Amino acid sequence: MIIELLRQRRSIRKFTDRPLSERQLKILEEAVLRAPSSRGRDPWQFIFVTDRDLLQALATAKPHGAGFLASTAAAVILCADPDCCDVWIEDCAIAAFILQLTAQDLGLASCWAQIRCREHDDHQDAESYVRHIAGIPENLRVDAIIGIGTADEEKEGHGDETLRRDRIHWQKYAGSK
Ligand SMILES: Cc1cc2nc3c(=O)[nH]c(=O)nc-3n(C[C@H](O)[C@H](O)[C@H](O)COP(=O)(O)O)c2cc1C
Repeated sequence: MIIELLRQRRSIRKFTDRPLSERQLKILEEAVLRAPSSRGRDPWQFIFVTDRDLLQALATAKPHGAGFLASTAAAVILCADPDCCDVWIEDCAIAAFILQLTAQDLGLASCWAQIRCREHDDHQDAESYVRHIAGIPENLRVDAIIGIGTADEEKEGHGDETLRRDRIHWQKYAGSK
């Protein structure tokens, strides 16, 4: 059940050097293509990266929070055409998380690297940098990169006691059941 995957789910940033199998890559491809999108517009493009030099370059997309991509077996860049759909960000985010859950279901681990709204350095934003590295056309926006591989660190799922139950409301804000 998906709730069991969610109970164990954690972001993993340390990976072994084990490559993904062809079968795993095919399932990950299928999973993102099965993601829902607003009005079924599918405004996205998914770039699967396994080349070590490219992964190394993606790891420096921003000063913090992307370094783990250097050690992932694969990374998927999620980008989309904003002219195709006004809610392309939501579309990409859903596809990204479907990718993460599918990876977990395959016994793999993953972590999200935010690219949209992030800076590469003082002169360039992270989106332009990733576009340049991966040859992505100018008209596409880059939302995020999901790094995937075999975990080389252990993290427990968040315990039931840590859940922010105060964030749940019934009928109206601050309403009770
Ligand atoms: C929209 C979004 C952006 C994120 N960006 C990054 C990121 O750029 N780098 C990173 O290492 N983790 C990133 N994360 C992972 C979060 O830091 C992580 O989910 C959060 O700290 C909770 O930890 P957990 O996933 O282990 O429960 C992102 C997660 C989301 C949902």
